[in-house]
Amino acid sequence: MSKRIIVTGGSGKAGRHLIEYLLSQGHEVLNLDLAPLPPPLNQHVHTLQTNLADAGQVYSALLSHFKLSEPFPASEPRPDAVIHLAGYARNMLVPDNETFRVNTAATYNIVEAACRLGIKKIVLASSICVYGVTYADGDVDFPSFPVEEEVDVNPMDVYSLSKVCSERIGRSFARRFGVDVYALRIGPVIAPDEYETAFAGYIGDPARWKVHGWSYTDVRDLAKMCSLCIEKTGLGFQIFNAVNDSITNQIPTAELLQQTLPEGTMTFTREMGKYEAPISNRKMKELLGFKEDHPWQKYYTAG
Ligand SMILES: NC(=O)c1ccc[n+]([C@@H]2O[C@H](COP(=O)([O-])OP(=O)(O)OC[C@H]3O[C@@H](n4cnc5c(N)ncnc54)[C@H](O)[C@@H]3O)[C@@H](O)[C@H]2O)c1
Repeated sequence: MSKRIIVTGGSGKAGRHLIEYLLSQGHEVLNLDLAPLPPPLNQHVHTLQTNLADAGQVYSALLSHFKLSEPFPASEPRPDAVIHLAGYARNMLVPDNETFRVNTAATYNIVEAACRLGIKKIVLASSICVYGVTYADGDVDFPSFPVEEEVDVNPMDVYSLSKVCSERIGRSFARRFGVDVYALRIGPVIAPDEYETAFAGYIGDPARWKVHGWSYTDVRDLAKMCSLCIEKTGLGFQIFNAVNDSITNQIPTAELLQQTLPEGTMTFTREMGKYEAPISNRKMKELLGFKEDHPWQKYYTAG
């Protein structure tokens, strides 16, 4: 069924693919972003230039028409869902305190306004960085394999901390308002034209890629994951690892982990699939019925 969906950060890398996918599913989309959408998407979806760190702008934007028209429709239904991607997508784009301020304020404003305006489905972009390895000061290990959503997260860096806070904001509001808030812990996002370069690195030098958990997220599969989040209702607050199925290497998972990590530092909590990604997407498959369409082996030709 066609839904009215607000996407934040739709002009960014993941957002453009998400908007394309939502349109292909027959949904109506409004994009909230500081930046414009590039053509041809801008012909199909309106971008309301919105600073999400400003609560007033967020409230107003969530009550906005979806398109500019003359005249406007006399009345329009409320949006069915918000997919919140906007923010600083890594450390060091701006000083740390600004990363924290914008990412947490934007999430707070979106979640509070959506809940108070009666929007019952919110999807938040979190990151596998919350597991604390990617941007640690120095070399840090994952607690166990596969990395599943239940492990305690306590990252040292500010970007990841802002994502942990965003998840907690979602959890608190889901409890208070009885709505669905699904947080996606996204892996390094790979666009179609990035496979050769990214996987040459992943395959050639696996020791370096502990920081990505030897896992990745195809940008088109990410769009599908967001869409599945919109379809599934009634799960309350949930965290999902939003990564693809396989490890980013041709070496089987257990073997690669044994080769790469110092002896005695590795704990397995269950038997893993032969090529299963060390960051596990099992929960997303079981609860949302996710099936990947874009395994990396389809696109990496150099191997
Ligand atoms: N790209 C990755 O590898 C990756 C990995 C894990 C998680 N994520 C998360 O996924 C989301 C999308 O990532 P991306 O790679 O598409 O990022 P991106 O930087 O390409 O896009 C982010 C968008 O947010 C907008 N934005 C930033 N601050 C804003 C504000 N105050 N108000 C309104 N808009 C604002 C930007 O203009 C931009 O269009 C982010 O939340 C990021 O943290 C990304």
